[in-house]
Amino acid sequence: MTTHNQTSNRVRVHPGQALRGVIRVPGDKSISHRALIFGALADGISEIRGFLPAGDTLATLGCIRALGVQVDRHDDTTMTVYGRGLRGLRQPSQPLDCVNAGTGIRLLAGVMAGQPFSSVLDGSEQLRRRPMKRITEPLRLMGANVEENEGRAPLHFGGAFLKGITYEMPVASAQVKSCLLLAGLFADGPTTIIEPGPARDHTEGMLRAMGADIRKDGNRVTITPVEHLHPLNWTIPADISSAAFPLVAGLLVDGAEVVIEGVGVNDTRTGILDALVMMGATVHQSNVHEEGGEPVADLLVRSTRLHGTSIKGDLVVRMIDEFPILMVAALLANGVTEVSEARELRVKETDRIAVMAAELRKLGAVIEERPDGFVIEGPQQLKGAVVDGHDDHRVAMSLMVAGLLAEGETIVKDARCAHDSFPGFVETMQSLGAGVDWLPD
Ligand code: S3P
Repeated sequence: MTTHNQTSNRVRVHPGQALRGVIRVPGDKSISHRALIFGALADGISEIRGFLPAGDTLATLGCIRALGVQVDRHDDTTMTVYGRGLRGLRQPSQPLDCVNAGTGIRLLAGVMAGQPFSSVLDGSEQLRRRPMKRITEPLRLMGANVEENEGRAPLHFGGAFLKGITYEMPVASAQVKSCLLLAGLFADGPTTIIEPGPARDHTEGMLRAMGADIRKDGNRVTITPVEHLHPLNWTIPADISSAAFPLVAGLLVDGAEVVIEGVGVNDTRTGILDALVMMGATVHQSNVHEEGGEPVADLLVRSTRLHGTSIKGDLVVRMIDEFPILMVAALLANGVTEVSEARELRVKETDRIAVMAAELRKLGAVIEERPDGFVIEGPQQLKGAVVDGHDDHRVAMSLMVAGLLAEGETIVKDARCAHDSFPGFVETMQSLGAGVDWLPD
């Protein structure tokens, strides 16, 4: 077993081993970002357990500290956030660097828009390619003083007083919804967001638990400003989006039996489970309980012959981050899998339709790309090859799982980015018996 070192960036995958064991995966990325940002805005001290110590969330931690918020880290996953209240953030002396984190920049944009001081939000070249008009346009309707660079980061904020608006979102996006709800905390009256689909609702649940006035009425969410937010005492469940990789591997690899403990199963996030069940999988849930206001369960899967399915509509929204690994499942399934109404995949960390199709083709896959999805007819026999993670964590991890199902050895280049959401992914898969190893550079 080769353990990760800072310099290795390539993973070698040897198929052939059965996967067996009980694992935990890291804390939920969406909730970790929110716990930091919301904790910073609370009046008092928030305790956070189960935090995801990964590239994206540590970038948000850096931003929060740059806004004058003290955060004490007790270990990788436990921390205390000394909230400064809704009006207590300090003007940052430099641009806030969100690195690769779309959630970080879009949620912080909602907060920065409502501050009396100016600030700049920026990030990596990859983040600078992602669309920001989806937040800046509605923020401007609220009176925000924000300028972007042809619809992209960096985002420059001048101080502003915000007004409440009613806004119908053109795309179902939890990042846009959360940005506007956060801005709504600083507005002069209620802000209502109308959602075209059931985007994850962690923001609503957490802010409500902190005393915010948030009401949901069908697909309308309304926030009315309050004077104070209470601090959080929050245990973050394991991320279902990270669990999806060993889960799908546990279904596809022969002789596998995998248990993943303590996974968040909020139903705005469980689309991947529903899709796999539609494909013939059984995902046993046990030890179901609640943590930090979220339902949590242990998930068990065994190797199963899957069949194709059709995915569109609300299900797409409920599994938006799981399509790279779903593509791998579709390649191994009997019959046709068709995904449509998933155009959003093109504006994630990468264009996940194009990038996954191109990399899986190197493994011999036949995939029909569509503007808003893809069609895959399986089962297909993959052949080991050299593939590239494209600095997209979910692409890199999906390719490692694909390598486990190929004939012969696969090398995944640019694999370090797995750490953006799943530090220890390779080691976790090794603990199940998978033939994955970091290669020295
Ligand atoms: C996230 C929302 C989703 C998702 C991202 C995390 C969040 O993005 O893809 O990984 O934490 O709110 P969109 O809101 O752009 O769909």
